[in-house]
Amino acid sequence: MSEKAILGIETSCDETAAAMVTHGGEIRSSVVASQADLHARYGGVVPEVASRRHLELVAPVVREALERADATLDDVELVAVTHGPGLIGALLVGLQAAKAIAWTRRLPLVAVDHLHGHVASLFLEPDPVEPPFVCLLASGGHTLLLDVEDKTGYDVIGTTLDDAAGEAFDKGARLLGLGYPGGAAIDRLAREGDPEAFEFPIARVPGLDFSFSGLKTALLYKVRELGDAVDARKADVAASYQRAIVTALARRTRQAVEERGAARIAVVGGVAANSELRAALPDAALAPLPLCTDNAAMIASAGRFSEAVAYPRYLALDAYASAG
Ligand code: KG4
Ligand code: ZN
Repeated sequence: MSEKAILGIETSCDETAAAMVTHGGEIRSSVVASQADLHARYGGVVPEVASRRHLELVAPVVREALERADATLDDVELVAVTHGPGLIGALLVGLQAAKAIAWTRRLPLVAVDHLHGHVASLFLEPDPVEPPFVCLLASGGHTLLLDVEDKTGYDVIGTTLDDAAGEAFDKGARLLGLGYPGGAAIDRLAREGDPEAFEFPIARVPGLDFSFSGLKTALLYKVRELGDAVDARKADVAASYQRAIVTALARRTRQAVEERGAARIAVVGGVAANSELRAALPDAALAPLPLCTDNAAMIASAGRFSEAVAYPRYLALDAYASAG
């Protein structure tokens, strides 16, 4: 490899990921090993199972990221790794792997906040988005409105009071028997349904916050009410349910833009892959689909704008489960 690069490592949930990204933000490689199939039979991520799988996968995934970038560890100038928020056991696997790689090569290490990583997915080539902007971060674990003034961080201006939007999609999919994770399945099925067939509630919470737990309960009652008829109406239910989630997300995002007088909107996180959400916010900057869900290119990207810790001080770094 001609130019040295940042090795990114991400293991905060159920994706084991590694990537090579240059300082300029060019992705040389990005490898994501999803454990979704492994957790599907449990209907959600089992933390202990995730940690063990990360342990098996982290070395081969890093090796593959290097190979695909036509690189060796000699080409790595900095190791960037997610240290939170996420599943603590899962995070520790990536963090220890990153420490070991950096320490043996006497490289610096940068510990990256997973949410900053999602935002930094927007700073990658070939179409980097320039701050300031208001950013909707909607994933399986988080639903946040962020004020992004520059590339080094963000301010939280809104959050969910209960479930994340992705969680609402996943729980809805489970109630409809669509498997796990269910966001993409609801998205597909909703295309064949009528989004106005049923009315689902959109929570009225103050400020710029969100709430999705009432919606999930409403779906549970609707499925019970329909009984055997639910199979014939599944696409209509999925479309109406998706409409309620997307309306809540789009409304709050527009409100945030207005209140902040922001010139731009961006959407990141797994739910940014949702076709109705993309259509509802046509003026929003979006990361390419593979960068919307968890990946390590976004972690390496964030590492470009965070302070690196010199060898060997990072050996004392710890992981954290939740933000704040
Ligand atoms: O960002 P991500 O990969 O992981 C977390 O950090 O949580 O997001 C995963 C979430 C899951 O809840 C999944 O159902 C949802 O993103 N998702 C979608 C779609 N694709 C993935 N939700 C709605 N529509 C989609 N097309
Ligand atoms: Zn994520």
